[in-house]
Amino acid sequence: MIRRPNEIWQASGDEVTPKPLFMNRRKIIASAGAIGLAGLAGCSDASTAAQAQSPVGTHTPDPERQLDYARSDFRLDEALTPYDAVTGYNNFYEFGLGKGDPARYADRMTTEPWSIEVDGLTDRPGTYALADLVDFDALEERIYRLRCVEAWSMVVPWIGVPLSAIIEQLRPSPAARYVAFETYLNRSEMRGVRFPVIDWPYREGLRMDEAMNPLAFLAVGVYGEILPNQNGAPIRLVVPWKYGYKSIKSIVKISFVADQPETSWNLTAPNEYGFYSNVNPQRDHPRWSQRTERVIGGGVFARRDTEMFNGYADQVADMYAGMDLIENH
Ligand code: MTE
Repeated sequence: MIRRPNEIWQASGDEVTPKPLFMNRRKIIASAGAIGLAGLAGCSDASTAAQAQSPVGTHTPDPERQLDYARSDFRLDEALTPYDAVTGYNNFYEFGLGKGDPARYADRMTTEPWSIEVDGLTDRPGTYALADLVDFDALEERIYRLRCVEAWSMVVPWIGVPLSAIIEQLRPSPAARYVAFETYLNRSEMRGVRFPVIDWPYREGLRMDEAMNPLAFLAVGVYGEILPNQNGAPIRLVVPWKYGYKSIKSIVKISFVADQPETSWNLTAPNEYGFYSNVNPQRDHPRWSQRTERVIGGGVFARRDTEMFNGYADQVADMYAGMDLIENH
């Protein structure tokens, strides 16, 4: 089954199978013990509350979109948010402000082929094809809570690679103190960018130690399958201790920089959206409290207390020792 890459790319036109899909099919056949979506439903977590709740809901697994991945130790032992909510209740303002807009309109976004431009303070600037940046043989699943600044949260089984693995590969210079990300922008495919809600393209950034923290993750899949466009296909950030808006979707550019980069929400309303944006129940949003959050998919009245750093304080609090987290919100 193992063919050399040039054989794959030599096929013409419609016969070309995108590399991740190809690799994926190959691996499903080659590795009988792999955990795909079938494994998730059938054998990996059969006894948990998550399974009892049938998190996949009405979704029929698509064999063409399955990913092969390993379980990791980064997994909340909590009920998963149902598939239909994870992929149907989204924020992706490039496609509109309504929570259903991304699921409705994001399929217009072209995600194949996909390349990522890398620039700034790095030994390896250039334009990388997705499969040259992400090792699809080393995908892992991480179950993280995503806490949105709008005071709701979800528990999501993401598939991807640690952000640190990509950064190490790109060899930033010691002068790079921050990493900045930019989202794809295409006016004919993204109906939401007609509205100047923010200064497009969507931009985000992390301090280098945050980016290298083992929790910071680049997702290419969710629920065992390739990411649906509305969740930020083909590659998006997941920074579980920060409000969801730091988790930038559909990344096309990574820049290593010396100074704190501008970020879309911080530029739009600095008082409401900080650069750090660590989940903090003590620091209210100027227009609403952050003390509790609505549990998406948990029923109309399901709420929980918001935890400092979204519950990940043990892994991340040290990075902010001595910082005033109300001022640096
Ligand atoms: N990335 C882009 N490019 N555009 C966006 O509007 N919204 C952010 C973040 N990433 C957003 C984005 C916000 S506010 C949240 S809460 C999460 O994506 C939502 O991710 P999800 O839709 O996969 O749950």
